[in-house]
Amino acid sequence: MLRLDPEHPDPGRIRQAASCIRAGGLVAFPTETVYGLGANALDRAAVLRIFRAKGRPSFNPLIVHCASGSEAASLTAAWPAEAERLGAAFWPGPLTLVLPKAGIVPDEVSAGLPTVALRVPRHPVAQALLRAAAVPIAAPSANPSMGISPTHAEHVLKGLAEQVDLVLDAGATSIGIESTVIDLSGPRAMLLRPGSIGIPELERVLGQPVGSPGALSPESPRPSPGMLTRHYAPRARVLLLEPGERTSQLARAVEEAPAGAMVGAIVLDRDPGVEGIGHPIVLPSDPAVYAAGLYAALHQLDDLGCDLIIIEPVPTSAVWAGIRDRLQRASTPP
Ligand code: TXA
Ligand code: MG
Repeated sequence: MLRLDPEHPDPGRIRQAASCIRAGGLVAFPTETVYGLGANALDRAAVLRIFRAKGRPSFNPLIVHCASGSEAASLTAAWPAEAERLGAAFWPGPLTLVLPKAGIVPDEVSAGLPTVALRVPRHPVAQALLRAAAVPIAAPSANPSMGISPTHAEHVLKGLAEQVDLVLDAGATSIGIESTVIDLSGPRAMLLRPGSIGIPELERVLGQPVGSPGALSPESPRPSPGMLTRHYAPRARVLLLEPGERTSQLARAVEEAPAGAMVGAIVLDRDPGVEGIGHPIVLPSDPAVYAAGLYAALHQLDDLGCDLIIIEPVPTSAVWAGIRDRLQRASTPP
């Protein structure tokens, strides 16, 4: 593990990580959303190592990280005006665009799809690494498949210490949930994964509505192969409470927990109702701060050995959409 100043990473250490990427290695590095498990996106063998390291199904394609919008455009077969507009407005930043892929992008990256997911991250360490490596870097979140994404280098080591060649540790990531994913390869822009950049902001920039796949029947083809319902889940059972009466619901959930079970909770404020819960964690009701702390809270409760994690629902407004999505997935039974 190499420690780095998140704002001014040491150039020598960045060079070391970049050589590792260029030699076909796996480097975990911070982005502003979560830590990624990176490999040279143009090196098939290195990309396959990512899938093996995570135990990721080969049908789930990877996001390719680029140093600039023009590098991202060079990996596409078509660069529509929508991509230009969204890239100009939100890159570098937590937005991923799905576009028809150029021939140089290996099929391993796109899991055989004709499209590629692209993102220009803004974290100074990610930026420095991309520039020094001078190749695009394919990187899923640096966690074993189906696990909770890492927002600290320690989370990466917990799940992938044996598999990764190098971890760049620049402390906590600032956004805390994965990027918003928009598909621009079809006739209209479609939201594939909500994130900190919300639909209203995207529609303002695009000047047109953004579709969302909505409720999918189990038989319908998934617009994003990674949209497995259960995802981002801790080992513990997660119970997401219904909106409404918190105190009585918390009390009932604690009462109904199996005898001797260790119970944790994630709540929006401490009082009332958390008495009787072994490990309550309070997250603030500012969505940006809540998102930044959510995965660390889930990792912490999992590490404590909680059998049950009770989560208070969050507001239904658009700014909470990314967080609601992650809570829903974490609480879907396997
Ligand atoms: O914030 C993030 O996006 C983080 C950091 C490391 O950049 N990365 C991340 O990667 O969350 P991952 O692999 O955990 O999630 C990528 C998502 C998956 O749901 C995947 O199916 C989808 O993007 N995706 C990738 N390529 C796609 C494509 N060609 N078409 C549709 N969905 C795609
Ligand atoms: Mg992931």
